[in-house]
Amino acid sequence: MKKIFAANWKLHKTPQETREFFKVFLPQVRGLEAELLFFPSASSWEATAESLGNSENCKWGAQNIWYQGQGAFTGENSALVLSGMGAGFALVGHSERRQLFAEPAPWMKQKVAYLQSLQLVPVLCIGETLQERDSHQTKAVVEGQLREGLADADLSRRIIVAYEPVWAIGTGQVARPDQVAEVHRFLYSLLKGMGAQNFALLYGGSVKPDHASDLLALPHVDGFLVGGASLEPVSFLGICEKAEASSRAIRD
Ligand code: PGA
Repeated sequence: MKKIFAANWKLHKTPQETREFFKVFLPQVRGLEAELLFFPSASSWEATAESLGNSENCKWGAQNIWYQGQGAFTGENSALVLSGMGAGFALVGHSERRQLFAEPAPWMKQKVAYLQSLQLVPVLCIGETLQERDSHQTKAVVEGQLREGLADADLSRRIIVAYEPVWAIGTGQVARPDQVAEVHRFLYSLLKGMGAQNFALLYGGSVKPDHASDLLALPHVDGFLVGGASLEPVSFLGICEKAEASSRAIRD
């Protein structure tokens, strides 16, 4: 499976800055053997769609969607519009949505199912807080979020799960390889046991070019969901290029 590198731009970049990023970035990743996913804020969807055109290895999606395509939902993003614009993906349940915007857990399964009904691939984000880790609840928390998020999913279709420990997001404190390995092994066996047939497991939380290789070498780490380090072409490229090195190492 090709490695997946996803850029979560959060509430950064104007449409013009988005176009400038791609002008620099795209020529450098032509031919790169990896799947690159971009999650711009809604105001840059159009700039992203136009910049990417029908790029082979770069696709895009939304950071959040509502689970109905239209109606009286002030301030929400329509997945119907997203799909009409040629996007392929959407994040569901990012910890900032869950924590800052108090998105309740039962919404996640509806968002996942709605995305799948539109042929969009959900990227379900799960992860424990520091308090939950310190009280040895990590596995129980991520299992609960995984099962809840996928409760109404069609498990024969493609699903991406991003393990993002809340304490590692935006803090500069990346999880240690043994911590990532333990949770990814656990999630992999849960997904297999649930009957998921086509899934990928990403790690997210303060990923920088420096530690990308160590984490990518772990079993069941299929790529990354990157926030801060995805904002500049050089740093995101520095992470994406590790894919070439890791697939070369496997081939040789
Ligand atoms: P970070 O963000 O890489 O800045 O920690 C990751 C994320 O929020 O998805």
